[in-house]
Amino acid sequence: MARPAVCALALAAVLLLGVATVSRSKGLRGKEHQGTPRIPSQFSQEERVAMKEALKSAIQIPTVSFSPKELNTTALAEFGQYIRTVFPAVFKASFIRHEVVGEYSHLFTVQGSDPSLQPYMLMAHIDVVPAPAEGWEVPPFSGLERDGFIYGRGTMDNKNSVMAILQALELLLIRNYVPRRSFFIALGHDEEVSGTNGAQKISALLQARGVQLAFIVDECGFILDDFIPGLKKPFAMVSVSEKGAINLMLQVNMTPGHSSAPPKETSVGILATAVSRLEQTPMPNMFGDGPLKIALQQLASEFSFPTNIILRNLWLFWPLVSRLMERNYITNTLVRTTTALTMFNAGLKVNVIPPVAQATINFRIHPEQTVREVLELVKNIVADDRVQLHVLDAFDPLPISPFDDQALGYQLLRQTIQSVFPEVNIVTPGTCIGNTDSRHYTNLTTGIYRFNPIYLNPQNFRSIHGINEKIPVQAYETHVKFIFEFIQNADRDEEPAPHLHEL
Ligand SMILES: *[C@@H]1O[C@H](CO)[C@@H](O)[C@H](O)[C@H]1NC(C)=O
Ligand SMILES: *[C@@H]1O[C@H](CO)[C@@H](O)[C@H](O)[C@H]1NC(C)=O
Repeated sequence: MARPAVCALALAAVLLLGVATVSRSKGLRGKEHQGTPRIPSQFSQEERVAMKEALKSAIQIPTVSFSPKELNTTALAEFGQYIRTVFPAVFKASFIRHEVVGEYSHLFTVQGSDPSLQPYMLMAHIDVVPAPAEGWEVPPFSGLERDGFIYGRGTMDNKNSVMAILQALELLLIRNYVPRRSFFIALGHDEEVSGTNGAQKISALLQARGVQLAFIVDECGFILDDFIPGLKKPFAMVSVSEKGAINLMLQVNMTPGHSSAPPKETSVGILATAVSRLEQTPMPNMFGDGPLKIALQQLASEFSFPTNIILRNLWLFWPLVSRLMERNYITNTLVRTTTALTMFNAGLKVNVIPPVAQATINFRIHPEQTVREVLELVKNIVADDRVQLHVLDAFDPLPISPFDDQALGYQLLRQTIQSVFPEVNIVTPGTCIGNTDSRHYTNLTTGIYRFNPIYLNPQNFRSIHGINEKIPVQAYETHVKFIFEFIQNADRDEEPAPHLHEL
C-alpha cells in the first residue's frame, strides 16, 4: 500500500474501543456447480516448498520505486521474466491472455467458461518502497528464511499478493481447473508512487474495451490481531473505502529587506501563524453513519461491560465514542480529515528577511468529505489573504463500496475468510487510510474491496514500509490457499444469500 498507515481503520476501531461482536454470516450458500467439482486446497510437500522458494526469489528482485520518475526498471523487467519461469501453466493456458501494460505492469485475462457471469478482478503491485539495510536483521532483499519467517521488503506489501494470486492460479491449472467466471489479474508496477503508468493505464485499456466488473479485490485490510486490549479474538477487516488526499502548498510573498530594519511582519511569521492555526483547528469530527459505526456495532458483543452496551447503543453514545476516538492518534484518523505539516521552507541568509516562505500540508480526507470542502475549510481557518493556497495534487476519497447481503465481492470474501480462517468469526467493513491502485478503477465497478488474508499485529504493522518486514511461511501458504478457494467460490452458482446477524 502506498503508505505505512495501512488500514488503520481496523486498528482504530480496535484500539480505542476494544470492541467486537458476532456477525456470523452464513454468507453464500453453495452447492457445487455441476461439472466443476471442487478441488481441495491441499498441496503436496513439494508444492509447498516450491511456493515458498518462489516467493523468496521474488523478494530478491529489488523492484524499488524510489520516486515517481525513478523506478528500478531493470528489476521490473527482470520480474516480468521471472514470473514467466515460475508460473508456466499460467502463461501457457489457452484461455489466459497475458499483456504487458505501461512497459512493466501485467494484465492477465482469464476467460471463464460461462460468459453470462460478470467478471471480477484480483489486484496486487510489484513495486516496493526503498529499504536501506540499516536496522534489518537480514539484508532486505535477501528473501532469507529464519525461524519460520521469510524476510524482506515486499513480503507483506505486496509481493505476497502478486505471488499468491499467480501461484494459486498455477496450482488450479495444474489440477485442470477451468474457471467458469472470467476474471482479470492486474499487477501494477508503480503503486508506491501513484500508479499512473501501471494501474491507470490498465484501467484505461479495460474501459476502452467496455469491460464492467462485478468487483475488485486489492490490498489493504487484514485480519487484525491483538490490536485492541481486552479483545482476544482476531477479526477480519475488509476496507470498503479509502481516504482522499490533498497536498497543499501555502505561500507568502513579501518584499525582501535587511534584517537590521525588519518590518512588523515577515513572510515566515505570517506563514507560521497560518500553519499554526491549521494545526490548532482540526477538521471536523465526521463520526457518522458510515462503515465505522457498523464495524463498532458488529464488534460490540466481543467486549465486556460497559463497552458492549455503549457500542450497541451508538444512537445514544456516539458523542462519547467519537470523542474517545479522536483522543488516540490512530483512531483519530478514522473520524476526520487529518492535517499534517510536512515541509516548511524559507530563508537563504542570516541577515536577509526572506521574500518567500512556503509550507506543504498533507491532508487525508475522510470518506464523507471532498477536496472542495476541505479547501473551503482551510481558507476559513487561515483567514489571511496574504497566504496563497496552491494545490499540488488532490483526489477525493473513494466511494463506499456496498457491503450488504447482495454485495457479491464482499460476501465472497466473507465466505472465504470463514472457511479458511474458521477461528475468525467477525468480518467488518473498514476504511483504508493509505491509498491503493484500486482508486484508478472506480469507473469499472462500484465494488472495490481491499483485503489481505494475513494476520496483522502491531509489530508487523510497523514493519510495512519499516524494517524487518517479514511473513510467516505458514501465513504465505494460507494466502495461496485463500486465493485458491476464492477463485472456486466465485465460480459457484449462488448469488449471495442473506446471513444471520446475531447482534
Ligand atoms: C536494480 O535492480 C537490479 C537487479 O534487477 C540490481 O542489480 C540493481 O542493483 C538495482 N539498482 C538499484 C539502484 O537498486
Ligand atoms: C472515468 O470516466 C470518465 C468519463 O469517461 C473519464 O473522464 C475519467 O477520466 C475516468 N476516470 C478514470 C479514473 O479512469
